[in-house]
Amino acid sequence: MSPVTNTSLILYLSLVLFKNVLGDIEAGVRKPLKFNLNYPSEPLINFTELATRHGYVSEQHTVITEDGYILTMFRITKGRNCRRPIKRPPVLLMHGLLMSSDCFLDSGPNAGLAYLISDLCYDLWLPNIRGNYYSRRHIKLDPDVDQDFWDFSNLEFGYYDIPASIDYILHHTKSKKLNYIGFSQGGGSFLVMNSKRPEYMEKTGVAILLEPGTRHTYTRSRLFRLLCETYLLYYPLLTDIGEYEALPLGGIVQKLTAFLCKDSIAASSGCRLALGLIDGPHPGSVETETIKMLFNHFPAGTSLKNIVWYGQAVNVDTFQNFDYGASKNLQVYGSVQPPAFNLSLVEVPIVIIHGRNDFFASPADVEWMASKLPNLLEQFYVEEPLWNHFDVTYSRLTSKYILPKISEYLKKYSN
Ligand SMILES: *[C@@H]1O[C@H](CO)[C@@H](O)[C@H](O)[C@H]1NC(C)=O
Ligand SMILES: *[C@@H]1O[C@H](CO)[C@@H](O)[C@H](O)[C@H]1NC(C)=O
Repeated sequence: MSPVTNTSLILYLSLVLFKNVLGDIEAGVRKPLKFNLNYPSEPLINFTELATRHGYVSEQHTVITEDGYILTMFRITKGRNCRRPIKRPPVLLMHGLLMSSDCFLDSGPNAGLAYLISDLCYDLWLPNIRGNYYSRRHIKLDPDVDQDFWDFSNLEFGYYDIPASIDYILHHTKSKKLNYIGFSQGGGSFLVMNSKRPEYMEKTGVAILLEPGTRHTYTRSRLFRLLCETYLLYYPLLTDIGEYEALPLGGIVQKLTAFLCKDSIAASSGCRLALGLIDGPHPGSVETETIKMLFNHFPAGTSLKNIVWYGQAVNVDTFQNFDYGASKNLQVYGSVQPPAFNLSLVEVPIVIIHGRNDFFASPADVEWMASKLPNLLEQFYVEEPLWNHFDVTYSRLTSKYILPKISEYLKKYSN
């Protein structure tokens, strides 16, 4: 066996073990978490608590999508350091794969983008995509029982979740437009929305995409490739044993890392190393306190199908729909190959901010995407050559390297 097959087999066996053995043991001794609000597992410290702790006023909203998913959206109504009236229009800040709204708070008030953008006096809204711990609910389907709940990937985020969140914000604030900021998957699914639902294009003033993920042909993160290709390989087996959810909060992977990374020494050595293994190295960028905090919220859970989509994406040279295999593709799409998302249709003004050392959304893929967009205002490379993917959420240096560019365009598109 090749080392890769070997490792992936071990990974697979561990997954099964997590599910069957540890899951049962865990279920037997599981203590109810602090509150039971229909969330199967809650973050140890949630958005509201974090924002309040640092003096930011926040609200919690519930959004229901056309296909019945119940999403939680947070809003920071006023930043602690905002001394002027709130600017209009509202701003939507969307998280990435396996994350939640909380990722924009994890690095604290000096660096978390949610704090910094609120401090610039924007009315900031932070949705949560279906399947993560805040949005693991549906009007009819039970995520613990109904496998149909988990039948989604990038397409559904763009087709249902982002439109529902936008409509909610516009309605609630009586605005015609908002400005959109999307990180990683939150950038890619914004483009999916606009390519599929042109009526949404006029609802966005400007879209600022941070390390956006579309095509993943040149993804350099070996660990990520290995993880999602393993899921791809064992997708049929995993669904056979009833596994439709991937890496939930409160799952064994998250609990274990959260437990280990609570310790300062572990956080500054092993947990830092783990981050370095999945992304390009950027020494000194992430504070130990942030590492301790982020594993309370990461991984936040998604569908197995979504991870499998990434397993497919790292092996094709375009940005396309989920690949079911030839015969089901014919049924679902009317073609043997899954159709690509047509980025040429996205007429919204777009700004791209990205780092040369991003191992997920690598510069080659981001440039490919940029070349397809008809209304690209600017493609901005962060000055620091070691700027990587997770720096957007976890670096202590966001206000130096990315906030000025974000602020420049928000200002241009606000009154
Ligand atoms: C966040 O935590 C607070 C206090 O523990 C709790 O009242 C609130 O319901 C939680 N919110 C969510 C969305 O879990
Ligand atoms: C994508 O959209 C552009 C612009 O409307 C169009 O010219 C092109 O034919 C479309 N491409 C595909 C593959 O549908």
